[in-house]
Parts: sequence; C-alpha cells; structure tokens
Amino acid sequence: MLLISDRMLIRGGRPLTGRVRTQGAKNAALPVMAAALLLKGRRLRLSRVPDLQDIHTMADLLRHLGAEIEFKGGTMTIDVPEELKWETPSDLVRKMRASSLVLGPLVARCGKAVLPLPGGCAIGSRPIDFHLRALTRMGAEIDLEQGSVHARTDGLSATRINFDFPSVGATENILMTAALTEGETTIENAAREPEIVNLAESLRAMGAAIEGDGTGTILVRGKKYLDSAEVTIIPDRIEASTYLLAGVITRGHVRVDGIDPEYLEALTAKLEEAGAPVTASSDSVEVDCRGLNWNGVTLKTLPYPGFPTDVQPQIMAALCLADGTSVIHESVFDSRYMHVGEFRRMGCKIDIQGNTVVIAGVPKVSGAEVHASDLRAGAALILLGLAAEGETVVCSLKHVWRGYENLMGKLRSLGADIELLPDGESGDKFDGAGD
Ligand code: EPZ
Repeated sequence: MLLISDRMLIRGGRPLTGRVRTQGAKNAALPVMAAALLLKGRRLRLSRVPDLQDIHTMADLLRHLGAEIEFKGGTMTIDVPEELKWETPSDLVRKMRASSLVLGPLVARCGKAVLPLPGGCAIGSRPIDFHLRALTRMGAEIDLEQGSVHARTDGLSATRINFDFPSVGATENILMTAALTEGETTIENAAREPEIVNLAESLRAMGAAIEGDGTGTILVRGKKYLDSAEVTIIPDRIEASTYLLAGVITRGHVRVDGIDPEYLEALTAKLEEAGAPVTASSDSVEVDCRGLNWNGVTLKTLPYPGFPTDVQPQIMAALCLADGTSVIHESVFDSRYMHVGEFRRMGCKIDIQGNTVVIAGVPKVSGAEVHASDLRAGAALILLGLAAEGETVVCSLKHVWRGYENLMGKLRSLGADIELLPDGESGDKFDGAGD
C-alpha cells in the first residue's frame, strides 16, 4: 500500500538503534523494467522490486505502451506483446525523468518513438543531449517538435559511442539499444554504477553478449531477438546510506542488512574520516555513534565509485552537527542545493559558494516546518528532524515516497518518534517535475 500523506511530524532527539533490511534498488529496477520493451511476445520476471511510486509510474508507462504487468510481493512479471505502441504520454513522462529510459528500447524495437522532453527539476536542468547524440550516431533521426523528441530509424547500426560525461541514464539507454542492434557497439566513458552492472546482467540473461560493465568501456554484441528471462534487482545503496546516516546524526547504532559493503565504500570511508566507527560483514554495514561526536570533512560528489551525489543532502545534514567545518563540492549536478535554505531554517550554518558549500558545525538544530524539494532533500530533512530539538514537520513528502519503501515502518523500528499528519494548507513550496 503506498502512503499518500504529504506531511510528517518528527519528535527529534532520540538516538536510533536497530537493524533495517535494504530494499531493491529503485535506480536498478527502473532501467531493467524499461529493458523489457526489447522483448517481442516474451516475458521478463524481476525479483526484489521495491514498492515505490516511481516503480508504479514506470509500470503505468509500460502498460500504456502495451505491456501486461503483475506486481506482487516484490516480484514483477512483464509480458510484452508482438506489437508495441511507441508514443509516450506526457503526463507520465513529465512525472518522472527516468521515463527517458524507454526511448532507446522503443527505437530499437519499433524503429520509432515519441517522448516528451523531461523537464528540469529541483536538482538542475537535466537535459538528455548525450542520449540523443548517441542514438543519432547509431542511425536514428531525431527531431524536436513541440517539446517532444521524435525519433525514427530504418535500422540502427552498431558503432563506437564516447560520452563526454559518464551519464548513468545515457549509458543505460545505449546499453539497451545496442543489445537489440546486431554487431559490436563499444561504449566509452560509460557510467560504472552497480545499477549499470545489474542492467547488463539482465540483458545477458535475455541473450545479449556484454563485457566490461562496471568499467568505463563496455562492449555489446547485440542480437536480432532477445528472450524471456528472470532477473534479481540489486539492493539499494542510496537507501542503505540514508539509514546509516540516520544512525550517525542521532548518535545511535544502526545496522543495514542485505547490502554489499563495496557499494558503500565512498560513504564509509568518509564516515571513518569523520570519526564515526563503521563495521561491515559480507552483507551488512553498521555504524555506532552512541555518545560520540564526529568531525567535519571535505568531500566532492563524483560518478561511481566516487562519493554519490544522491547521498550529498543526507551527509550534509549529518555534517551540520559535526565538530568543526566541512566543505562539500557538488560536481555531478549544476544545482543540487535547494535543501540548504530549508536546513538554515533549522539553525544550520551553511554558506553556498557556487557549486561548493562550507558548513560550520553547530551543537544543535531546532525543529521547524520545512519543505522537501526533491527525493533526497526530503530524506535529508527527515534526518535533520530526527536529530533536532523539538518538533519538525516535513512537507511535500510526495517526493520521498518515490524512493523509500516502508519508510515509516523502518524508521519506527529504529525507535523514531514520527507520525503522518493530514495534509495541511502548506501546499507544495517547490513545484516541478520529479527526478
Ligand atoms: C541517475 O540520473 C539517477 N536516477 C539519479 O538519481 C542520480 O542522481 C544520477 O543518475 C547520478 O548518479 C536514476 O537512475 C533513475 P546522469 P541520470 O545522466 O541518469 C548531465 C535519485 O535521487 N547530463 O548521470 O539523469 C545531468 O544534467 C536520482 O534517485 C547531461 O548534461 O543522471 C547531470 O548534471 C536523482 N546530458 C549529469 O549529467 C545528458 O544527456 C549526470 O546525469 C544526461 C545527463
């Protein structure tokens, strides 16, 4: 059942202690769902799919295109017909940027596609020029008309693609397109995220030959047809990071189970540097900050395996309560500091200097009414509320339900004093498309 309340009341100041199990990764499930469109009269079965708003949005998009989808208890089956629609509905695409992941599969499968351009959002302009340039190189004709991408081809060709930036979405779009394009496609300066590897594993299970996923150079030997397959979604490293930081910021003791510690190395290295003791087993990571302070650090967000931009707001929240000064440089997005204004309302001392912020640690923050501007900013505000003195109301939770499964249940199991409020008149301070 998806929660629809839009405001959360948090009574802060309680250390969180306990264990939570990681959900399936939102950012792995979305591209793998899109990859199902490459099938023709076949079925893709996915395990460990998280029950999130974005997953339902993608399912609705695939249904609109003609797929039949069953989703129950974390297992999803996607039956893809012989004939697919290839025009995508604006209301769904504008709701979620990840809808652009159906573009490559539709062009490869149907020879054409119409996709409304995803709007910008709270974390930057978010163009898809890398996707479009790469599809053009593979032989697609791309026109932009009335705010939509019109793509068509008489046949795609395998070729060499070199990205200016290791874009996650562009790598995923071209990986899927190349999997259904006969011949050898090489993707250079490819994204290396674990979600890319999960997609490549899924495409291999469907019959494509792919090597080098997880490195900067991926080689794809595409096929004329792909076949039914069963795939398992990897754990969500961003969700896991968020709960570890909930343990840090509340000076508690939190263990996250069902996660490969290697996925979290950039975060755990930073936590160790800050003096927050981290221990790891083969499939769990825990942090024990009971009675401890942590010191400020300097960090720069980078493509994987560097520090993940999707954990930047959450670690910023923890660093606001560090002993000393921290510096964060956001190098992946051109403006991912919408949450800073809301942090300041709770007493955080943050100075924005271009794409860098300087944070002066304070001994405490105070509860306030604050608004989530996007998914990870919302998560970070909840972390601050858990550590704050007094009551915090986090509004615009619709952003948060997109990426955190059973958030209330998991936080309560760690001892958080939280409740959902009936929607107030607060409205949505930050309007705009989702990620
Ligand atoms: C994916 O977005 C994730 N979303 C994002 O997670 C994540 O922040 C991002 O990767 C970076 O890790 C999903 O996987 C669904 P990019 P994506 O293409 O693919 C620029 C979350 O909270 N760029 O790697 O859109 C872009 O503007 C979300 O779960 C272009 O200029 O990210 C950005 O500055 C937020 N042209 C940078 O590259 C393009 O054609 C990285 O973007 C594409 C991207």
